[in-house]
Amino acid sequence: MKRQVTKAVFPVAGLGTRFLPATKSIPKEILTLVDRPLIQYAIDEARAAGIKEFIFVTSRGKSALEDYFDDAPELETSLRKKGKTELLEALKATNMDSGAIAYVRQNRPMGLGHAVWCARKLVGDESFAVILTDDVIAAEKPCLQQMMEAHEETGGNVVAAMEVPHDKTSSYGVLDISEDMGALVRVKGMVEKPKAEEAPSNLAVIGRYILTPKVMQNLNKKKEGAGGEIQLTDAIAEEIEAGNPVYGFRFRGQRYDCGSKAGFLQATVAFGLARPDLRDEFADFLGDVMAMRTAAQ
Ligand code: G1P
Repeated sequence: MKRQVTKAVFPVAGLGTRFLPATKSIPKEILTLVDRPLIQYAIDEARAAGIKEFIFVTSRGKSALEDYFDDAPELETSLRKKGKTELLEALKATNMDSGAIAYVRQNRPMGLGHAVWCARKLVGDESFAVILTDDVIAAEKPCLQQMMEAHEETGGNVVAAMEVPHDKTSSYGVLDISEDMGALVRVKGMVEKPKAEEAPSNLAVIGRYILTPKVMQNLNKKKEGAGGEIQLTDAIAEEIEAGNPVYGFRFRGQRYDCGSKAGFLQATVAFGLARPDLRDEFADFLGDVMAMRTAAQ
């Protein structure tokens, strides 16, 4: 029987410069979609997939993120006294068991691969998941759970994948496919952020990974890749060269790039419309906005 994957790494050390000035004093992972910070979506997805240990790779200025997952006893007491049961439940969903979250620091921004490598001692000799909080995925069955199920069949390394427009390959890790089996593809190469004319396909890596501990060993070599950074993509690609399997997994769901302003706004609209308590009022408002826009054109 394959061992279950119970550890997930969350690289949250990034400076979030694309969201300045908001991110001058708050971590980008605390930016809020409807009423929950981005990090909450990532944690909920990990929990649904059976993750028990959450490893945050942080940096200076991220203490709000650490506080967010602490219990807030005063707040809970006050809500209980006021009979605000729903809010109390929402608050409790953010509590994490003591010891379930571990924090390690990335002292210098040296790339995603380096950030993941910072978690090596806590990951140990086990397969592990990586979740990038910028990629928010709305799905009936959470994306990482879909991947865990695929991974039970395949073993090895599994990366989330999605077709992107050809002229956007330079924003992603891109897969070179050796066999296309539908949802799963067998991968024979991976390139980080290739120019459109050099991209082996338009199947891009999205921020969910299930990786073997060998990937950590590859990261030990600290090889510089695209943009002069240590790239996770390269460490995974090395596994292919070593003859170990890497699969791309076309997940079912809608991905929002919350690392960009346009993507964040799209996610806000989609998540707002998906909320029963907001849907009608919000849809009416959007309808009015669109009608005004059309009339003005
Ligand atoms: C990272 C990875 C890239 C992947 C992308 C998905 O890039 O390096 O391979 O395709 O996430 O969002 P970043 O967006 O951090 O530049």
